Amino acid sequence: MKPEDVLADLERRAELGGGAERQKKHHDAGKLTARERIELLFDPGTFEEVDKLVTHRCRDFGMENQIVPGDGVVAGHGLVDGRQVFAFAQDFTVFGGSLSETNAAKIVKIMDLAMKLGAPVVGLNDSGGARIQEGVLSLGGYADIFLRNTLASGVIPQISAIMGPCAGGAVYSPAITDFIVMVKDTSYMFVTGPDVLKTVTHEEVSKEELGGAMTHNATSGVAHFATDDDRECLGLIRDLLSFMPSNNLDDPPRARTSDSADREDPALDRIVPASPNQPYDMLDVIHLIVDEGYFLEVHQHYAKNILVGFARLDGRPVGIVANQPAVLAGTLDIDASVKGARFVRFCDAFNIPLVTFEDVPGFLPGTVQEYGGIIRHGAKLLFAYAEATVPKVTVITRKAYGGAYCVMSSKHIRTDFNYAWPTAEIAVMGPEGAVNILYKRELDAAADPAAARAEKVEEFREKFANPYIAASRGFVDEVIRPRETRRKLITALNNLDNKRDKNPPKKHGNMPL
Ligand code: HXC
Repeated sequence: MKPEDVLADLERRAELGGGAERQKKHHDAGKLTARERIELLFDPGTFEEVDKLVTHRCRDFGMENQIVPGDGVVAGHGLVDGRQVFAFAQDFTVFGGSLSETNAAKIVKIMDLAMKLGAPVVGLNDSGGARIQEGVLSLGGYADIFLRNTLASGVIPQISAIMGPCAGGAVYSPAITDFIVMVKDTSYMFVTGPDVLKTVTHEEVSKEELGGAMTHNATSGVAHFATDDDRECLGLIRDLLSFMPSNNLDDPPRARTSDSADREDPALDRIVPASPNQPYDMLDVIHLIVDEGYFLEVHQHYAKNILVGFARLDGRPVGIVANQPAVLAGTLDIDASVKGARFVRFCDAFNIPLVTFEDVPGFLPGTVQEYGGIIRHGAKLLFAYAEATVPKVTVITRKAYGGAYCVMSSKHIRTDFNYAWPTAEIAVMGPEGAVNILYKRELDAAADPAAARAEKVEEFREKFANPYIAASRGFVDEVIRPRETRRKLITALNNLDNKRDKNPPKKHGNMPL
């Protein structure tokens, strides 16, 4: 063969992966191949592949006769919206996308380069985990990747897509990264699959129930996004990247917007119901305030009593954390605290300002929460907010009660600008609870306990259920009209552009994990 024919043949074999038959099966299952996925992730024509001709070195189990150039993973770099991004895509048609020693070395190579250049890494996972035929060599390969995932955490954004049945190391590496996107009906995550489970624990469970997209989006909280197909998944990753800087020393990219910074929305003035116990949808508040009403919600299906996600204000990316009074009255429980804490830490690591909308009656009480460790988990959110040095701005829309007042980006934990709407109620607890405790004996002895109670509740509400005591102490910088919230937030963030704050020198804190 002529030299150019040798190259063409090797490239053709690399591109064929596990062969036409397996690729057809893959397509028939509604999945795109590794190379098709890479094409969709990057700006057209910008992907540069590395190690296309790498092969495995295993000579056991007949593996010497099954050599595919590239060895089941496509790796390289390209541009996403004009910015450099590194990526790898596992090819399920080659030994189930399993990780060999050499295929791990390819991933490690691009991760090391990404760290040197300060560019994000996107992993498109579609793998049965460690390649069984290679034994400890493949385990070592995974450990090499886990180390890099850990060292890269907080330095460059890392995003994982789960695009097929993923087991073992193929789920632990994503678990260390910042965001996990799953594809409904075709992607699964488990430490080990249903077949092994049946043998070991005699438990019979389907792939979907054990580790499908909704299991991990709604129940375990392991995954942050669920998409309908591969195409939507890759589009979402591009969108997600647009809110992030390339690394921890950069600022997030500012976008153009036609939404005026001065826009006022009178609908905001009417959004909080007259009755303090009536819910409203905090998503409406967010949509009315942010640029073009666009909010990329993270963890949409998990712990719905808190909302987290990305939006822009005058083109500047912000991380939004908001209590959701429409679910569990917006209380903070274990899942909500952990969800919020993780998001706050991501934003803080990557210089994304935090905007908090607060309407929280407190931590959710009860044995389920106490036995589950709400004290420890709630403390994570407090820790994350207190530790964060990015610009922080809070708007109290209604309730800010008790410990939750302190936690939700209060002035006392270094929040730069704290605003309250006139409907804000800032107190140790709600009027009913407070009256029950403060006036218990007096009410028991009253001729008409119900009337006496109502009177006291009203008295308490008048006195404490408003933002003015906090404002008189400077714990709230300004009581603002709801309609002006967008302008106020944008002005605050402009003023905070050059914010410099830091924590005391230390190896790392000891967050209550
Ligand atoms: C080598 C593998 C493989 C693996 C799958 N294949 N997993 N080859 N090593 N780990 C191969 C199969 O032999 C098959 O080859 C092809 O990939 C497709 O696999 P199927 O089983 O036919 O596909 P499917 O029914 O869709 O099931 C996918 C699966 C299942 C759920 C991923 O294959 C599975 O359970 N695999 C084992 C998962 C696992 O327990 N891995 C160990 C991970 S331990 P042919 O030639 O037929 O196409 C690990 C440790 C890391 O990763 C450390 C963690 C902390």
